[in-house]
Amino acid sequence: MDRKPKLIKSDIAHESSVYHVTGEARYIDDLLVNERLLHGRVVYSKIAHGKIVACNIEKAKQLPGVRAVLTHNDIPGNNQMGPVFHDELVLAKDKVTFVGQAVVIIAAESEEIAIEAERQIKIKYNELPPILSISDAIKKGRLIQPSRKIETGNVKKAFAKCDHCMEGELEVGGQEQWYLETQIALVVPGEGKELLVHSSTQHPSETQALIAEVMGLPKMEVEVQVRRMGGAFGGKETQANHVAIWACLLSKATSCPVKIRLFRDDDQKMTGKRHRFLMKYKAGFDNNGQINGIEVVQHTDAGAATDLTMAILERAMMHADNAYFIPNIRIIGKAWFTNLPSNTAFRGFGGPQGMACIEQIIDRIARKLKKDPIEIRKINYYQEGKRAYTPYGQKVENNRLEPLLKILLKSSAYKKRRIAINSFNANNEFFKKGMAITPVKFGISFTTSFLNQAGALVHIYKDGTVLVNHGGTEMGQGLHTKIIQIAAMELGIDLAKVKVNATTTAKVPNTSATAASAGTDLNGMAVKNAMDKLKKRIGKRLCDKFNEQYGKRGKPSKYFDIRFENNTVYDVANPKRKLAFADAVLDAYFNQVSLSATGYYKTPGIYFDRQQGKGKPYYYFSFGMAVTEILLDTLTGHFTNVRTDILHDAGDSINKRMDIGQVEGGYIQGMGWCTTEELKWDKNGNLLNHSPDTYKIPSIQDIPKDFRVNLLKGYPNSEKTIRRSKAVAEPPLMLAFSCWLAIKDAISAVCNHKLEPLYSLPATNETILLSIDDLKKRNSS
Ligand code: MTE
Ligand code: HPA
Ligand code: MOS
Repeated sequence: MDRKPKLIKSDIAHESSVYHVTGEARYIDDLLVNERLLHGRVVYSKIAHGKIVACNIEKAKQLPGVRAVLTHNDIPGNNQMGPVFHDELVLAKDKVTFVGQAVVIIAAESEEIAIEAERQIKIKYNELPPILSISDAIKKGRLIQPSRKIETGNVKKAFAKCDHCMEGELEVGGQEQWYLETQIALVVPGEGKELLVHSSTQHPSETQALIAEVMGLPKMEVEVQVRRMGGAFGGKETQANHVAIWACLLSKATSCPVKIRLFRDDDQKMTGKRHRFLMKYKAGFDNNGQINGIEVVQHTDAGAATDLTMAILERAMMHADNAYFIPNIRIIGKAWFTNLPSNTAFRGFGGPQGMACIEQIIDRIARKLKKDPIEIRKINYYQEGKRAYTPYGQKVENNRLEPLLKILLKSSAYKKRRIAINSFNANNEFFKKGMAITPVKFGISFTTSFLNQAGALVHIYKDGTVLVNHGGTEMGQGLHTKIIQIAAMELGIDLAKVKVNATTTAKVPNTSATAASAGTDLNGMAVKNAMDKLKKRIGKRLCDKFNEQYGKRGKPSKYFDIRFENNTVYDVANPKRKLAFADAVLDAYFNQVSLSATGYYKTPGIYFDRQQGKGKPYYYFSFGMAVTEILLDTLTGHFTNVRTDILHDAGDSINKRMDIGQVEGGYIQGMGWCTTEELKWDKNGNLLNHSPDTYKIPSIQDIPKDFRVNLLKGYPNSEKTIRRSKAVAEPPLMLAFSCWLAIKDAISAVCNHKLEPLYSLPATNETILLSIDDLKKRNSS
């Protein structure tokens, strides 16, 4: 029975694609409740730091149509919604710590009334000076949690032995998740204490847990349901909890269903973003560009609460090496308190920030030694043997860098195009071209090891159709599609016979967030585990039936010979003994065999010791590589992505269409982060660009004019992974460093690569122009 069933059809479209385009997909805002539905609104702080001296809600309460106006005094349980550290208030008490912090919540019969009620609320503050930058937090010594360290070898000795030493700083910007569906929750109160919560959350179990804590309820009274999110990108790993909790408070106070849907501008102002970092580094290398030692201090802006900061910082630290073996390295991580919304998960989860620094270092080494950066990358790549160990002690196994580089150099005609670019640059004064090739190595698993578990509950109905419940959530990434494929392949039945249910805490309890790119790895295995149980039960019953039916004609059927293929269940040792899948199911039912099973999976053999900074935190690594060529208008700072070639390692892809979609989307999202997406605050801590007119995410004009995305063929993942596939989701975002460094290459061409440009991330038009200006000044002096 453990023979691998044939793949049915690997490139099917997203299971909801028709619903997406016809508008039939039901997002939370589309759900019809009843005429008692109330609209929730959040009144948040307009100052970054201050004492609340008065909060007058009486007038708002009197307004017709207003049904509840609540403050921290009205919380039945704990005023606490920090997911890991308990340092985040549901509603502000005596002080506020960032612009966007919830102080009062309102339920009203319409959105308009709720807005009018907000106008009637007067909050008086005693303003205090805010901390708004990492450097200010460092000056004031405001660490949010103790700092962390990962170290190997001896950096001091390494620096003493190097041909060259280089020091520097790199500012790495944050990023707004910009999910299309803003934060939303709809609560329907049931009988007694029951709450049914429709939440756009990546982490239903945690939403449930925090609601229970705030409401003073046992978890069994709270059901959290997710049909799908309209995008999440990490922004709903913890911060979907907030609106769900506020909506529950309002629902409890009014005994009515309550919906809270944040307006885009409010969402952007109130919620956390990708963490910005300030990297301070020193690197030692030899005349060939081989790195001997690196010391890097990663300073990050946590915001006003810890949220997932320490896990994100940990991943940043664990990706300070990217694809390069560094024999001596010391990585220090420091997370700083600021009076800004608490920063949170965003695709890559600190990995991109950690990697930006080493990519900048490699590029700088190349420019200093006047070599093509590809040469520096090559000699520093992880290899077999001694050069296979990460700073935290994990061996880099099944390294795919070599085949990726070989195939991509050829398919992208890298060398030929490099020559063409040089001649273009020699012949053009104002337009310059640049090109870069960058690798990605990304660790797959939650670094918090116990989170690597998943559950499933599979029902087979009497008509032979299958309803799969699993703990993962759908945010557009195609998890449910892959789960349908896995379930159908395991049972050998048509895809149309399988459906994935909306995710609910009532079916699969105590789940982890759908995050860390591990959705399919974990939930796919849990579903397979349930399928194995069901197949064994049906198989055993069928053996009894066959043996009864065929008596002594032929060998007796054994359950391990039973195969599920082509909508049929048969005995491979006696192939004539077979039954249609639906008939086998019905037969099992009449013979009192349970057709429902739970499944469970935990990733084996991974661990990490935070104190020591050592372990094997990742089940495996994902790899990818990209070449980007850009054209820069040096007078305006505008660049065009001329061509991008990507080769990405998805193991044996379960769904190539879906995976290529993730690679394309990841790269473009990364490009936005590296180029146009810049967060700006005023001196009072107000986010200035809180809508798409001033916060520039990539659009159709920004995608590469020539975009060639391929998956690496012939390199399956280990046998112990689901269908030998690999997680795809996050790693491709970091392929965008090829675009970021291609721009730097073009800037550098302005002075014929004689001087190294100043550079930071994002490389906005402004950054680019200032860098060119600075180069020209230095060149002429
Ligand atoms: N793709 C779409 N379309 N929408 C999303 O919100 N989130 C990303 C990635 N791809 C996201 C996405 C993030 S941050 C993660 S961790 C993974 O999807 C989560 O899903 P998976 O583990 O099932 O791949
Ligand atoms: N990735 C994403 N989310 C997480 C992680 C991680 O490594 N650890 C805890 N939450
Ligand atoms: Mo993704 S940042 O792990 O939700």
